[in-house]
Amino acid sequence: MYCKRISVESFRNIESCEVEFSPGVNILYGDNAQGKTNLIEAIFYASVCRSFRASSVSEMIRFGKKKAQISIDYRDAHRDNNIKIQLLGDNKKIAEKNHLRAERMSDIIGSFRAVLFCPEHLSLIKDGPSERRSYLDIAISRISQKYIRSLQRYSYFLKQRNTLIKSAYNDRGSFDATVDLWSEKLAEEAAYLSGERYKFILRISPFVNEFLNKMTGERESTELIYRGSAGLEGDEYLDYELVKERYLRLFSSSHEREISAGATLWGIHKDDIEIKLNGKNARIFASQGQQRSLALALKLAEGEICREEFGDYPIFLFDDVFSELDDTRRDSLVLYGTDKQVIISTCEVEALKKINAQRQIRVENGKYTVTALDEGEAEKGEE
Ligand SMILES: Nc1ncnc2c1ncn2[C@@H]1O[C@H](COP(=O)(O)OP(=O)(O)OP(=O)(O)O)[C@@H](O)[C@H]1O
Ligand SMILES: [Mg+2]
Repeated sequence: MYCKRISVESFRNIESCEVEFSPGVNILYGDNAQGKTNLIEAIFYASVCRSFRASSVSEMIRFGKKKAQISIDYRDAHRDNNIKIQLLGDNKKIAEKNHLRAERMSDIIGSFRAVLFCPEHLSLIKDGPSERRSYLDIAISRISQKYIRSLQRYSYFLKQRNTLIKSAYNDRGSFDATVDLWSEKLAEEAAYLSGERYKFILRISPFVNEFLNKMTGERESTELIYRGSAGLEGDEYLDYELVKERYLRLFSSSHEREISAGATLWGIHKDDIEIKLNGKNARIFASQGQQRSLALALKLAEGEICREEFGDYPIFLFDDVFSELDDTRRDSLVLYGTDKQVIISTCEVEALKKINAQRQIRVENGKYTVTALDEGEAEKGEE
């Protein structure tokens, strides 16, 4: 899959732009605060309908404007497509795929597939579990609409249940009887979602290990283990009834604790992935360089799952991480492949010499100018 063109209007510091990409390696370069990450954010948004840094839709709309628009022309294994997203005030958004309006935003997730690697992901290994859960949710959502819908229901049920728990705390009373209703629904979704997370980890773990092997010249190996909050082991997570029962038991036996905590204490919102590096917990023992390689391996592995699922690679977006990767030369080798599109942003002009890019794009104050094309690209442009 590759992104041919993006048109953006009133998105962050971009007033209006149209940028064409090469199917190979593209570099966005320029000084700080010029709009490199903004363009990457727009591309990523069209892929998963969520930003990796904005907490609200209005934050992404250009100051003083009422709406923003992102339109992407891309080619998948079969044909040319277009995704268009409009961001409106008060957190509203409208999406179209091939000029047909999507009923829900979730209908278009997974059509245009992009994998992002940005500086925040370097903390995927060391930081708390929420980063790792978010990694799982984004990666699984890309391949399963059923997972997205279940996750949405889960969040809704969790919110309802937490509201009742909080009011029990405020009233210094006991649980409202309806809490059992939400517990049942929550346990059902949790049983499904944890099974999917478990299966996904089993599937991705060998790829992560393979990439890490390549980057470290076979010196390091890794294994990912699902640590679900139900406290079960391995394949037990495939037994839907068992997981559901376990959650129901946890919920019903901890009313007091939940009331004093003011929240639901068990569920997939408490899950984690244990990442083992050479048999030891990477969260505790991984060095800076090992974290970097592991995080990159996790991202590249996401791409392999997409390829298995859809027959082509997603687009790889590397925001501001090239200098991080560059000191392990082997890392960068793994990035390139004839069938992968890569969009890299950097503020180091030096990087231009190091990266063998098909297209260089200078970024200045929300404007994008192609400054170099390799020979093959230039010929294509002249056709
Ligand atoms: N809603 C908005 N409207 C207008 N400008 C915005 C908006 N949100 C952010 N900006 C501006 O966008 C600019 C930052 O752009 P961006 O994050 O893409 O920079 P960058 O080129 O990636 O820089 P760096 O190299 O530092 O990462 C800032 O000047 C910021 O003020
Ligand atoms: Mg940036």
